[in-house]
This record gives sequence, structure tokens and C-alpha cells, in this order.
Amino acid sequence: MSEFRVTAIAKLHAEFSVPGDKSMSHRAAILGGLANGFCTIRNFLPSEDCLNTLNAMQALGAPCQIIDELTGYGPLNLLIHGQAMRLSAPSAPIDCGNSGTGMRLLAGLLVGQPFASELFGDASLSSRPMGRITVPLRQMGADIEPCGDQPGCAPLVIRPAKLNSISYAMPVASAQVKSAVLLAGMFAAGTTTVTQPAATRDHTERMLASFAVSTRQTGNAIAIDGGQMPVACDFTVPGDISSAAFWLVAAAALPGSRLLITDVGLNPTRTAILKVLSRMGAHMTEIVHHATGEPIGNIELHGAPLHGTTILTEEVPNLIDEIPVIAVAAALAQGRTVIRNARELRVKETDRITTVVNNLRAMGAEVEEFDDGMEIHGGHPLHGAALESFGDHRIAMAFAIAGLFASGETIIRNTACVNTSYPGFAHHLTAICQQRSNTSDFTLPTHSRT
Ligand code: S3P
Repeated sequence: MSEFRVTAIAKLHAEFSVPGDKSMSHRAAILGGLANGFCTIRNFLPSEDCLNTLNAMQALGAPCQIIDELTGYGPLNLLIHGQAMRLSAPSAPIDCGNSGTGMRLLAGLLVGQPFASELFGDASLSSRPMGRITVPLRQMGADIEPCGDQPGCAPLVIRPAKLNSISYAMPVASAQVKSAVLLAGMFAAGTTTVTQPAATRDHTERMLASFAVSTRQTGNAIAIDGGQMPVACDFTVPGDISSAAFWLVAAAALPGSRLLITDVGLNPTRTAILKVLSRMGAHMTEIVHHATGEPIGNIELHGAPLHGTTILTEEVPNLIDEIPVIAVAAALAQGRTVIRNARELRVKETDRITTVVNNLRAMGAEVEEFDDGMEIHGGHPLHGAALESFGDHRIAMAFAIAGLFASGETIIRNTACVNTSYPGFAHHLTAICQQRSNTSDFTLPTHSRT
């Protein structure tokens, strides 16, 4: 079983880019497969989650041709042959692996098809709530049934149905739910409207626009007219700011460090991590160099002594995936950090409130656990420990970062899960541990397939 062994670093001076954005890669695979022709997708994330979605689209009749590969992982640049909204029946149940995004978005896509399908996933995904999508999709007329051992959980059995449009107010702020309803809305008669209780990542809306499918936003409500044909286009996926977050925290917590992350997505619905680290004392500049569709740019960060902060309720959906590593930053900061109104963390790949609290305590941090978050009393020295990832990629990576600041050795067990979102994380971690600063030390090998 793979593990990370990490010891403290004295310096971090580096410039590199992180692999493509996970949210955008899922959406590019889906919309590319629905488009009316060939789409070139560049810098696709060949992580297990996104590869499962790409495989699903192939199983639904949208073939893809690999142009370049991230060596050892999978497609980086690829050509998808869109099927002009006419998918075909898969010959077997579709495996979504560990991915809540993959399963929920594909469910939204599949409920309006004229054929039956089934979506399943691993043990973690089979325990995550699917009622949040089956409720609105059934209101649209979908025939979707969660058949798991746990009530309301995957596998999801879907039978053909004719969809009607709805106006749906989501009880939870979830981009996955919003996207599932919007994708179903593409196959429904009339206008489907989904209202979010708070702003969530808007990659679906932006990517639909890239494919010339219009949506209308009024406040937190998004409307889509059914029957629009996605027009084939080329799309370049920026680096994933949620992957960059691990190194941003490492640099932020190390006074005197300098980190430049290049070509990363700077969509304002994802950049709250930058605001939080600035508030905690890090010095940062963000330069957007490409602003059409999805903003892409560079982040330069200089470390400084950090102090605690309070995460604002409205920030939570914007940094939900970064909270594990923010909690690590909080343990390294002086003073109190309060993270509340984040109950959603309990239904991620693991219960991320409990897994973060337990691992922080094992390293000597002082943390109080609440039903909806935690309070961290930072500044207690961290010591190395043998920790579990619990099979959760972000827990494995967040605690690798904690290990860079602990006395002695930190061992994180069961780390293969990092491949669900960050192929090459171990390579980047080694370069950081060896205090490398050449960009070439961080470059992941690629090869052409044409
Ligand atoms: C995602 C949305 C978020 C996030 C997940 C990716 C997406 O989940 O945690 O990693 O791509 O839409 P929720 O929308 O369920 O909060």
C-alpha cells in the first residue's frame, strides 16, 4: 500500500503549474460528447475521477482520440467526437469510481435519454447522499431510483422518461446539484430554473456558454431553455486552484518562502482560498492573463507569520474543497480559526470534519469539533505521526502539507487515492521536500499518441 513520508522543510522557492481543473474536466468530457462535432480539449485532468467520466461518455457513444498523454496517467490533450445530443445505450452499468461530481452530473444527463442506464461507484460514493439530485430530477419526470444498501444512495437505476421543466430551489448550496438539474434541463421541454441558496462554482454555466448554449442568471437563479444544441468548440482547462491550494498553504505558512503557480483557474467562485490566506497574513498577487470563458492566470505568494481567521458563511461553498488544508494552515497560525456552517464537509469523500479533527489532534494541534465545523487554536507545535488518509485524496494531501511543518517524520498511509484528483502530487511533494526550485523539477512527463 502506498504511503507518503514527510519531514519538515526549511525553505520553499518554486515556480510550477498544477494539473488541470477537475470540475472543468468532468464538464468538458460531458459537453464535448454532446456537441455537434469534434472538440479538442487541452490540459484535461487525467485523474481517476475525470477518466471515469470520459469512459462513461465513450460508453454512451461519444468516442475520443488521445493526442498527448500525461505519462503513466492518461489523456492530457484529446479530441472528442460529439454526438449532437444523441447518445446511445451503454452496454453495462457505468462506473463513477469515487466521484460525486461524475455520478451527479451523469445522472442529470442520463435521466432524459430514451434508454435505461445504471450508475455505480466505490464504497465511499455508495454512502453519499443522492436524494439531493433524485428529488429535483423526479420532479422533472425522471425515473431514477437509488438502489444502494444505504437508503437514498447509489447505485442509481435510471429508466427512460420524458422530462418537463421545473423551477427548483435547492436546499443545499451545491454546484453538483445545480449542474445535474441544468443538464437534465437541456433535454426537457421549456425553461428549467434552479435557484441556489448561495453562489456556487459556475463552471457549468460558463462552459455551456463556450458551447453556445445560453443560460440566464438572475441573482442566484439560473435558467436554461431545453432543446439547445451545443456547438463544438475547443477548450483549454486551466490548472486546478484546489490542487494549487496545498502548495499555497505550504508557502503561506513558511516565512521567507516564494511560490509562483502559473496558468491556474482564477474563477471568482473558486478563489476564496486566496482571500483567506491573505487575511491570515500571506502576501499575494493574482494576475489574470486570459479572461475569456474561464479566467486563467498566475498566483505569486510570499510566506509570512500567519494568524487565525473566521471563515465567513458565504465563503464556505467557494472553498469547500480547501477546508482540510485551510485547517492545517490554521493549526500553523497563531490564534483562533473558526470554521462553521460547513456541515456539507460531513458528506464528502469522507466525513471531513471528523477526519481533519482526528488527524490534527494526532499531530498535537488543539481543535474543537462541532456538528458544522471546527475551531482550531493554532500555534501549538505539530509533531510527526502515522496518519490515515481514510481513502480521501484531500485528507492525504492536506496532511502531507502538515508534515512539512512537524517535528520528526509524518507518515500518511493509503495514499493511492490522491490520483482521484491530483496525478503527480507525489512527484511535486518530493520536489518540495527536496527544496527544489527549478520549474523542470516539477514538470510531469508527457508523450504524444499521434
Ligand atoms: C464540484 C462541486 C463541489 C465540490 C466537488 C466538485 C463540482 O461539490 O466539493 O469537489 O465540480 O461541481 P458540491 O457541489 O456538492 O458542494
